[in-house]
Amino acid sequence: MDSLYPVIQLIHVIAASMWVGSHLVLATGPMVRALRLRDSRPILEFYRAIAWPATIGLLIAALTGLYMASLRAPPSEWFSFGEPSGRIGEKIVTFIVLLVISGYAHARIVPGMRQNNPSVFWRAVLFVVVATLLSLALPLLGVMIRYGF
Ligand code: HEM
Repeated sequence: MDSLYPVIQLIHVIAASMWVGSHLVLATGPMVRALRLRDSRPILEFYRAIAWPATIGLLIAALTGLYMASLRAPPSEWFSFGEPSGRIGEKIVTFIVLLVISGYAHARIVPGMRQNNPSVFWRAVLFVVVATLLSLALPLLGVMIRYGF
């Protein structure tokens, strides 16, 4: 395996922690407060602080992940779902779904929260829950790739 691999893996895990950590804190801190107050402002304030660092972390994780994946298996095997090498494809699909719902939240839910529109409250909570669960699936699939499950 490439001698750069351990360095890239370290960068991958640090970048991943920026995204996953931000979402876990969002779901267990500001979102709980928002639910107690029935007000999406705590979610919006935290989202404003993490949006850029978390997104940069996500993109660096994707790039370094693709690099490691290319050394582990040829791209033709990435999407053999159900087999260990197919975990890479499962991860890529999870990443794309996450990008799509994050783009939707940014375009549709965040503007509503900015205007303090109560009709987006439950959509914002649902988004945080779904985005956090999908985010947790990424390191889980990473561990499965690592140990060949
Ligand atoms: C979308 C493209 C991605 C691909 C192709 C990919 C691929 C990989 C690969 C091949 C590994 C195994 C590294 C090894 O142990 O040798 C891995 C591990 C890992 N991935 Fe990704 N990854 C991607 C995105 C992400 C994202 C976006 C996150 C989180 C935000 C993430 C989180 C992790 C974590 C935490 C590990 C460490 C598992 C471990 O070392 O046991 N990955 N990934």
